[in-house]
Amino acid sequence: MTDPSIADLSKDAAARAAVALVEPGMRLGLGTGSTAAVFVRRLAERVKAEGFSLRCAATSKATAEQATSLGLQVEELDEIGWLDLTIDGADEVDPDLNLIKGGGAAHLREKIVATASNRMVVIADQNKVVEQLGQFHLPVEVIPFGWQATRTLIQRALERLSLWPRPILLRKRGEEPLRTDEGNLILDLALEAIPDPEALAAELSAIAGVVEHGLFLNICQLAIIGRPDGSVVTL
Ligand code: 5RP
Repeated sequence: MTDPSIADLSKDAAARAAVALVEPGMRLGLGTGSTAAVFVRRLAERVKAEGFSLRCAATSKATAEQATSLGLQVEELDEIGWLDLTIDGADEVDPDLNLIKGGGAAHLREKIVATASNRMVVIADQNKVVEQLGQFHLPVEVIPFGWQATRTLIQRALERLSLWPRPILLRKRGEEPLRTDEGNLILDLALEAIPDPEALAAELSAIAGVVEHGLFLNICQLAIIGRPDGSVVTL
């Protein structure tokens, strides 16, 4: 067996700390991605060991399948209604707890679940912590109908914010455009830096073909950053 990587150890440290925030009977949102998957695994271990119940809403089909296969009770968000806590990963976290998410193309459901929760906690390794958002390509989920016109409108919005010219990339899986769980497309904005996330979020949200962008502003209340020695720091 190969040694776990530093990133794996860090994710596990963050996931374990997040599992400790879970209380029996909670209504819990489960994120998507490799860090969230470690959390789901650690959570299932604790639930099995302690024998309490939880009601979970998943942010993707993949997470729903994983959680169900590990014996967690997964329900539709609307069956649960409102959540006590959501634990999710992130692609970038800034010092104000603003995030870029959507590296796993799940940011639409992730944002719905996070904003339907009393509290959202991000778990991540140190590589995700940045001074300014934008090095990670910003995912924007768009409706397939007229997506090229939507792309042009995004370009114009970037021009207004002096963020142009930058590549706007249609995300692919193999040769084909990637489809999200909702059947939509993802445009990844290679911005390098986002000096004014609120202004960009407002511009993107105003475009009809944009379903949701991956800027999570003022949504997250706590970030748990795992370290390879098993310790964590919080933002
Ligand atoms: C999925 C996400 C993920 O939380 C994000 O991409 C982080 O993933 P990972 O933990 O695998 O680095 O936003 O849409």
